[in-house]
Amino acid sequence: MAARKRVFDLLRTINVATCQCPAHSHTGNFQVTHSTLSKDYAFEIKCSTVRYGLGVTKEVGQDLVNLGSKNVCVMTDSNVVSLSPMKAVLDSLTKNGVNYKVYDKVKVEPSDSSFKDAIKFAKEGEFDSFVAIGGGSVMDTCKAANLYYCDPNAEFLDYVNQPVGKGKPVTVQLKPLIAIPTTSGTGSETTGMSVFDYEEINAKTGIAHSALRPILALIDPLHTLTVPRNVAIYSGFDIFCHALESFTAIPYTERGPAPENPALRPVYQGSNPISDVWSRFCLQALHKYFTRSVNNPDDIEARSSMHLAATMAGVGIGNAGVHLCHGLAYPIAGNVKTYVPEDYGSEPIIPHGLAVTVTAPAVFRFTAASDPDKHLEAAQLLGTDISAKKQADAGKVLADTILGYMDKLGIGNGLSSMGYNIEDIPKLVKGALPQHRLLKIAPVPQSEEDLTKLLEDSLTIY
Ligand SMILES: NC(=O)c1ccc[n+]([C@@H]2O[C@H](COP(=O)([O-])OP(=O)(O)OC[C@H]3O[C@@H](n4cnc5c(N)ncnc54)[C@H](O)[C@@H]3O)[C@@H](O)[C@H]2O)c1
Ligand SMILES: [Fe+2]
Repeated sequence: MAARKRVFDLLRTINVATCQCPAHSHTGNFQVTHSTLSKDYAFEIKCSTVRYGLGVTKEVGQDLVNLGSKNVCVMTDSNVVSLSPMKAVLDSLTKNGVNYKVYDKVKVEPSDSSFKDAIKFAKEGEFDSFVAIGGGSVMDTCKAANLYYCDPNAEFLDYVNQPVGKGKPVTVQLKPLIAIPTTSGTGSETTGMSVFDYEEINAKTGIAHSALRPILALIDPLHTLTVPRNVAIYSGFDIFCHALESFTAIPYTERGPAPENPALRPVYQGSNPISDVWSRFCLQALHKYFTRSVNNPDDIEARSSMHLAATMAGVGIGNAGVHLCHGLAYPIAGNVKTYVPEDYGSEPIIPHGLAVTVTAPAVFRFTAASDPDKHLEAAQLLGTDISAKKQADAGKVLADTILGYMDKLGIGNGLSSMGYNIEDIPKLVKGALPQHRLLKIAPVPQSEEDLTKLLEDSLTIY
């Protein structure tokens, strides 16, 4: 085994050392594709088909006819069900003669029990396709309902990420799912991820497999016009962290090992030149439109640009991945005490975007040494003048840039503003440690002490 690895390493060296110019590149063009490499050498970009346009939801009925759908499961939440986005979907289905049943009990920030309720609903119907109309909570719930509907004998934990579940790869054929996001944030419409709060451990986990990806995402900016202020702020910060985390993630060539079979390459592969394009676009869009879209709900240009940015960042995270802000956010959301934010109903909840952004200043101070130039570039794309900044200051420069946005958009003063104190840190660390899939995508390895320090530094942030 070791000898074989040496041969592949040698081939690689020859490949790198040989002239790579177009005229001569054939001389060293060995295909080093063996699966025993300790680091990966390839990445791939997967994405749902994305159709973007003002009012594009009216096409969904025709899309379902084109798919041959006869009985559609439409999923949403108890709030969106009575808003204009839902009306647009049902009008289109009715106009095109498509039969449907509506499930409107999706829980905002879903849990394993709320997932199971939606799965039960799906199993009681004879559905040949799914439509998710809502935010990340709805899209994620619908992905899980589709999966367990198509594999009715599976145990719930079979597909849940390790170490919480068994992380079984999806081999059953899922029904077509069309996702129509109504918030500008998660990017779930393009990803193979479905996130939920696992009540037993008070932390989020999920199911991650490319088969869960919707076949079509209809990106209709009209739906954003009803989004309330705090949902616009917190989902906007979700985009913010998606873009920053996938941009700064470990490079795909540093993650390993290369999989035995290309089908086993993980959903989160590390940063790469293609996802960097999406992340850069998003950071620029956030600079131009984030504050504007929050302060002017009728500004269709700003709201449309944020809606598109969310999908773009989704392609970034759906392939490169997210790391520490998300890994730490899962127990932060899962251990909520009494915090009830405006615009999210009356239950205690720490909205996902708020949970991810609260540790962002500490996280990027911590990761900056891995690639100071990229951290400085991120700050610049978000609007900071970096001409006089030194590499050694990259972490502080990016953290200060993030804090500027958080302050301007009214984010409270750290974890303490959500009811946490120093005694809570050990249980938050305990909830973050099982998030292997995310933590290993960070550009620097972390110890338990590092995670503790990141959370302590996030208790108060200004
Ligand atoms: N699968 C992924 O790739 C992925 C990525 C990031 C986050 N997530 C998950 O997504 C969830 C968060 O989703 P979210 O931030 O989109 O919010 P959400 O779906 O939880 O919705 C938040 C609130 O906004 C309301 N709402 C949604 N659209 C509206 C509209 N157009 N007008 C008025 N109100 C509207 C909802 O009814 C709800 O009260 C979390 O559970 C998070 O973990 C998933
Ligand atoms: Fe997120």
